[in-house]
Amino acid sequence: MEETTETQRPASETVRVADRKASVAPLIGIAVVASLLGIALSLLIDWFPVSASTQASNIDTLYDVLIVASVPMFVLVTSVVLYSVYRFRMRPGEEDMDGPPIHGNTRLEVIWTVIPAILMLSLCTYAYVVLHDAEDAPAAAKSELNVRVVGEQFTWTFFYRNPKGGREVASPELYLPVDRSVRFTVQTKDVLHDFWVPAFRWKIDAVPGIDTHYRVTPIRRGTYDVVCAELCGLGHATMRQSAHVVTGSQFSAWLRRQASRGGGANPSAPGTQAGGQTAGGNAPAPNGKALFAANGCGGCHRLADAGTQGGTGPDLDQVLKGKSAAFIHQSIVDPNAEIAKGYQPGIMPPNFGQTLSASEIGALVKYLQEATKG
Ligand code: CUA
Repeated sequence: MEETTETQRPASETVRVADRKASVAPLIGIAVVASLLGIALSLLIDWFPVSASTQASNIDTLYDVLIVASVPMFVLVTSVVLYSVYRFRMRPGEEDMDGPPIHGNTRLEVIWTVIPAILMLSLCTYAYVVLHDAEDAPAAAKSELNVRVVGEQFTWTFFYRNPKGGREVASPELYLPVDRSVRFTVQTKDVLHDFWVPAFRWKIDAVPGIDTHYRVTPIRRGTYDVVCAELCGLGHATMRQSAHVVTGSQFSAWLRRQASRGGGANPSAPGTQAGGQTAGGNAPAPNGKALFAANGCGGCHRLADAGTQGGTGPDLDQVLKGKSAAFIHQSIVDPNAEIAKGYQPGIMPPNFGQTLSASEIGALVKYLQEATKG
């Protein structure tokens, strides 16, 4: 028995080896064409949102290099797998046959270890250099803007150093001057969040108990999304705000305005704010209806007077009808104190007491009380 198989095998083996060599050439041709098509297609696709920081262009180039390096690998591996499945499949009558004995191929093993190792090491080094450059402090470190970013369920608040001294200026929207390095200090009041501005290509977790940082230099004026990129609870998807990149003088004007309108009011001492307001000069009296629109209230609440249809939070025409100013005030600054039937606590941003001044909250309360009266 053994002798017959010994004599039969070499004959069929030689045929197969010759066969295999002949079919490797077209296989290589197909793999090269498929790789080139794959690379061309992946470079043509616009993967990213607009690029708005100096760091973004380096990261996009890194991504393109990763594509050029990984598409041929993917094509090579899948072609060899598909080819082998087809070429060496079991044919009728071969059910009981064993494959040819293999004792390994040292040269092949060295090649398939060394090439991927070189590739991985080069890509890791390149990625490290890009990361290192992006984190580099600017030459003029003094001119760097520091912004404290605080996440909480489910909103972001941005804090700036007050140009007039005193307590930090708080804002629900991120404002940044163009062409100036910004260093973010990211914090959270409750659970993990992740501060991400896709147009800057950079994000970092907000971790309870510690400060995390990153820096970017915005280079393009415009309004971009600020996103929470860490599942943080029921309202995670609503944790979206805007980053406004403006000129240096627009930014200074905005910051001075924020400082004098008294964003960062202490809700427990509303009386102190009135003084701040007059000291700020000829600031016009806040308009409740405009504040309702500007703070995105209509995105979640229905209010006939404002023509909004939001359904995430309670219908204000119903729940605020006939309510006292004190109740409305509490619902704005401490939204979880009383939750309307059928709604979840923790969805409404709890930071309006910080980002709106006392007079703005007063105007909003007055507006809501009047708008829901009828
Ligand atoms: Cu905060 Cu997701």
